[in-house]
Order: sequence, then structure tokens, then C-alpha cells
Amino acid sequence: MISDNIQRAIEILDQNDLISIPTETVYGLAGNIYSEVAITKIFEMKSRPLFNPLIVHIHNINQLEQLTSYIPDKALILANAFWPGALTLVLKKNIQVPDLITAGKDSVAIRMPNHPITLALLKQLSYPLAAPSANPFSCISPTKANHVEEYFGKKLQMVLDGGDCINGIESTIIGFEGDEPILYRLGAISIENIESVIGSVKIKNKEEMTPAAPGMLSRHYAPRTNTNLETNIEESIKSFSNKKIGLLLFSQKINNQQIIHQEILSQNSDLQEAASNLYTALHNLDKLNLDIIIAERFPDFGLGKTINDRLERATKL
Ligand code: TXA
Ligand code: MG
Repeated sequence: MISDNIQRAIEILDQNDLISIPTETVYGLAGNIYSEVAITKIFEMKSRPLFNPLIVHIHNINQLEQLTSYIPDKALILANAFWPGALTLVLKKNIQVPDLITAGKDSVAIRMPNHPITLALLKQLSYPLAAPSANPFSCISPTKANHVEEYFGKKLQMVLDGGDCINGIESTIIGFEGDEPILYRLGAISIENIESVIGSVKIKNKEEMTPAAPGMLSRHYAPRTNTNLETNIEESIKSFSNKKIGLLLFSQKINNQQIIHQEILSQNSDLQEAASNLYTALHNLDKLNLDIIIAERFPDFGLGKTINDRLERATKL
């Protein structure tokens, strides 16, 4: 059920059950971090492998004390600069954080989401919420309440309605090796923006990133329809004659009779707007029974990098 009843949301969570929460990035599937029953349900409902740790959502920076055992200076600078917001910090965990949340790792991922309804909810709870994105494992992340409803239906008591997710793409994840910041996942805050605050951040190549953030399996965020990522769209269309083609484009439509549907992510070539429309566009295209989705490669800077990262994962078989 999609509802904006925060009191009912609290009741469900207090009974060790799950709800979906709105955030500025994507909808999350949330439960009490200290309830083994609730956390086990998260993994089951998502069909998520247990080795893939969850993000803990807080509403007050002071909560870091109960969750972590060490905070590098640059982590605090980032938290102060970007929280509430689309930044997740991976920090050395406090012994009280259950192993189920961290998949047995000695670090915990934490973020303060920037959504008024979810912040209001978190303030009224006596525990933080663990919440992965509210999609079955390896499906496209939900950016609207009804995406979540379509995925889980009656299995989920409540989707707390917070409207469409403004950023529309997951948080940026920064971890630390000692005191040195490392990018674990490209996300809604550009790496340039992060580096403007703390200086250079080590960026591992994709293969190296995978063990650090185990959720970063190469195929992820994927539509069921075959998807290609291309620089030259017109050329690519020619190689799919007689096929039902859908296009995912940055700013400009293509004139071609063969195309069944085109999703334009930002007519003004605005990367932020494009990122916020990406998953809805993929959801839309995926419903059309196409033979192929051809996606345009984005400019390789700012949120263009994040969009390319997600599209690369969507195109892996
Ligand atoms: O924007 C977001 O971050 C959304 C909203 C709901 O907050 N959440 C989200 O969660 O994207 P999820 O579970 O879909 O992705 C979390 C990522 C996974 O790739 C996981 O491996 C990584 O965070 N992660 C969690 N704990 C970690 C840890 N201790 N060390 C390294 N990576 C971790
Ligand atoms: Mg996810």
C-alpha cells in the first residue's frame, strides 16, 4: 500500500517488519538495524546475497558515535559538507553494529538521507534504518513509489510515499584506507564536487572496486531487455534492421521510422536532470517488449560519469 502515514510506518517498523522509504536518491527497503528478523527479511525480499552489506540511515551526525569506532578527519569534513545528502561513508564499525548489516566486514556504510519525510520518520524511531535500494536483486532501482509497488506488491505492508526521488540515482560511496579517501561507487554527487571539498580521492578501477563494495557486481541496475551502450547511435541502429528498437538519449531525438520509442533524459543537456530521469526512462523502455534498447554514451565528466557507470552495468550480460 502506498501511504504517507508516518505513524503507521513506525508501528510496522517497531513490529520488526519492513517498509519502503523515500529518499532523494532512490526508494529504500527499510528495517530496524538491530532486528535480526527485519534484516533477514530485507535480504529475503530482495533475493540479495548475504555477502552484500547494507547502508545504515541516520538523521543526526551524533549517531556516528554509536555506529563507528574511528572517523578520519576527511570523513567528518564530507559529512558536514554533504549531509543530509547523497553521500554514503564507509567507516570502521562499532562493535554494536550487527554483523548481518555489514556482511561480517569490520566497516559500516552510513548516510543521512535528504528527504523531509524520511528524516521526520528517523527522528521518531529509537534505531537507525538499514535500507538497500527497494528493487529485487539486479533489477532497476525504484525512483517512484509505484515502481516499488510493482516490484513487491502485497509482500510489502507499506511504501511511505515521498513523491519522485529528486536525484534519481544512488548515493556516492566513499570509504577509507587508513585516512585516505577511496571512491567505492560513483553516484548522485559528482566526484569533482567531492574533490572540491577534500582534495583528490583515490579511484580504483572497476575490478578493484568490486571486493571493497561487494554489491558492485558488474551486472546491476539492469532492464530485462537487451541493452547496448553506444557512442554512434545512428550506426548502431543500422546494425539492428528489422528489430524493435527503443532509444535512451541525452538531449536530442533521432529521426528514424524504425524506432518504436525514444526517451530523452534532458532537453537542456543538463546532467543532473538526465540522472534524475535515467531509471524512470529505463523502467518505461523495459515495459515495451522491445528487441533492443540502444543507450547513448554520456559525456565523461560530472554526473555523466555516474550515468555511464550505471549504463555499463545495465548492458553487461
Ligand atoms: O542512495 C543509496 O545509497 C540508496 C538509498 C536507499 O539510500 N541505497 C543503496 O543501497 O543504494 P544498496 O544496498 O542498493 O547499495 C549499497 C552499496 C552496495 O554496493 C554495498 O556493497 C555497499 O553499499 N556497501 C555497504 N556496506 C559496505 C561496506 N561496509 N563496505 C563497502 N561497501 C559497502
Ligand atoms: Mg541497489
